[in-house]
Amino acid sequence: MDYKPQQDRYTNGMTYRRCGNSGIQLPAISLGFWHNFGHIDNYAACLEMVKYAFDHGICHFDLANNYGPPAGSAEENFGRMMKQCFAAHRDEMFITSKAGHEMWAGPYGGNSSRKNLMASIDQSLRRMNLDYVDLFYSHRYDGFTPIDETMQALVDIVRQGKALYIGLSKYPIEKLLYALNYLHEAGIPCLAYQDRYNMFDRHVEEQHLQICSAKGIGVVAFSPLAQGILSDKYLHGIPADSRAARPEGYLKTTDVTPEKIERVTRLKAIADERGQTISQLALSWVLRRDEVSSVIVGARNLDQLKGSLHTTENLVLTPTEIKLIDDILA
Ligand SMILES: NC(=O)c1ccc[n+]([C@@H]2O[C@H](COP(=O)([O-])OP(=O)(O)OC[C@H]3O[C@@H](n4cnc5c(N)ncnc54)[C@H](OP(=O)(O)O)[C@@H]3O)[C@@H](O)[C@H]2O)c1
Repeated sequence: MDYKPQQDRYTNGMTYRRCGNSGIQLPAISLGFWHNFGHIDNYAACLEMVKYAFDHGICHFDLANNYGPPAGSAEENFGRMMKQCFAAHRDEMFITSKAGHEMWAGPYGGNSSRKNLMASIDQSLRRMNLDYVDLFYSHRYDGFTPIDETMQALVDIVRQGKALYIGLSKYPIEKLLYALNYLHEAGIPCLAYQDRYNMFDRHVEEQHLQICSAKGIGVVAFSPLAQGILSDKYLHGIPADSRAARPEGYLKTTDVTPEKIERVTRLKAIADERGQTISQLALSWVLRRDEVSSVIVGARNLDQLKGSLHTTENLVLTPTEIKLIDDILA
């Protein structure tokens, strides 16, 4: 396909942030493939979103072995896009994948063992039509595999040239500290730490942000919109096409509580004052923290992606706004 990206893609609005203490800069807003990019979704619409993203400075795409559904199909679709449109732009792209959650049957298909990680990176590279990923994450601390085993597998994946950098996701703080030290000693330091961070889930503020900052690691925030609750979508019930209503969605209708919706309604007043949507306010709020290198949004359609991209026009929150938001979230 004859795709020619926008010439001004790096100057038409996106801002870039240094990822920890490294030579890597990430776009403030990145695009994730967890939902909406599987074989159950419309491929042409997915491709339009990815082209739009790339045309507007999003050069960081976040995947994992199990994204779909079915598991693996988001990487397959991404691989098809690489071949069709983006092969000539590979060096402009920062592509991440992960392993550690349930992916294939049996005892080796879903934890953070060396066996799982080594097989998984090879599978992901095949599905995505790539020679290497830019960053490979341990998707989770599994509570079973010795951390040394997981970390050594990550180190070896870099040494084998299958990933340029290593990242960790959803590690409890003491396990994170141990893992960071292991990787540092091995000479393959952790580049990025990925965790859930949004107005309704501030657990990383307790220690993770400070530790990452002190160790020179960039924080990449996922589910910055609380899977869509931080928008106007659920203010008057649960729409049929929303993630909460769709059977394959990870968000449950019971997650959309009256208490959260009451807070979203109050947040809307602040967003209105700023001339933003609730979602744009929610993204600006995560990006207010210097430790955060990028927020990964998950868009279901082009309008949502466009809406999220407009956030970069108004990222600064005043101390008064931050205080008002804290009071609403308290
Ligand atoms: N490391 C990990 O364990 C982990 C876990 C989860 C996610 N992630 C990464 O983070 C990415 C993002 O996660 P997420 O999908 O939960 O992020 P999110 O941005 O919080 O939620 C995305 C959902 O919010 C709604 N939405 C998006 N943009 C909107 C807008 N402008 N206005 C109104 N609604 C909007 C859509 O929901 P509707 O479909 O209801 O419209 C969309 O499907 C994933 O794709 C993945 O790459 C990583």
